[in-house]
Amino acid sequence: MSREFLLFSRIARTHGMFKNLHDAGRLDITYECIIASLFLSHGLRKNVIFHSILNGPPNPPIHLQIEGEHLYDVRTDVGTWELILKKVLSNKSHPGITVGKRSFESLLKTKADTKQIFVLEEGGQEIDSRDLPSDSLFVLGDHIGLPKKVENFALRYGKKISLGKTPYLASSCITVLNYLLDRKFKSSS
Ligand SMILES: C[S@@+](CC[C@H](N)C(=O)[O-])C[C@H]1O[C@@H](n2cnc3c(N)ncnc32)[C@H](O)[C@@H]1O
Repeated sequence: MSREFLLFSRIARTHGMFKNLHDAGRLDITYECIIASLFLSHGLRKNVIFHSILNGPPNPPIHLQIEGEHLYDVRTDVGTWELILKKVLSNKSHPGITVGKRSFESLLKTKADTKQIFVLEEGGQEIDSRDLPSDSLFVLGDHIGLPKKVENFALRYGKKISLGKTPYLASSCITVLNYLLDRKFKSSS
């Protein structure tokens, strides 16, 4: 049973040649979401898988997948992740991370066979953690939010839920979801 997060990033760069994460189509948001999804103090969440679909140039769409169970040789600082993302987006390997050509639609369709899908959006139904199974997949948008077409596609498979009217960072939403699910299932790894 895994808890999964899926960040849709409309402009994130799809090759490892870049100067810094922010200027690489806001890969800094992907970095923040990786940390919020997978890291505990002094440990990794082995039951969490983080996904991002990167839709920026030069080779979209790219599916970045990071599995807490197999990830190692990592720290939380931005320098470490800038190097890792440059490496894996240049087709080099890192334990626990896979990169491949895949669209959001294809990934979500496959995941919907085994996961309950929740789309995070301010205007959704107020979250009730009693309704969240341990093997949920949560879809989040980037700094602009989910494109309407993407949101509508995701809603064919899942339900729109909200953490209230306050617009949070995508990474803050992940922290809140991890907290609620940790409390509900009394385990974080
Ligand atoms: C920085 S926000 C973007 C906010 C932007 N106002 C928008 O159009 O969605 C990034 C993502 O975090 C999630 N999010 C932010 N605040 C939320 C809230 N209060 N409830 C549910 N999801 C939220 C959504 O998935 C959103 O696409």
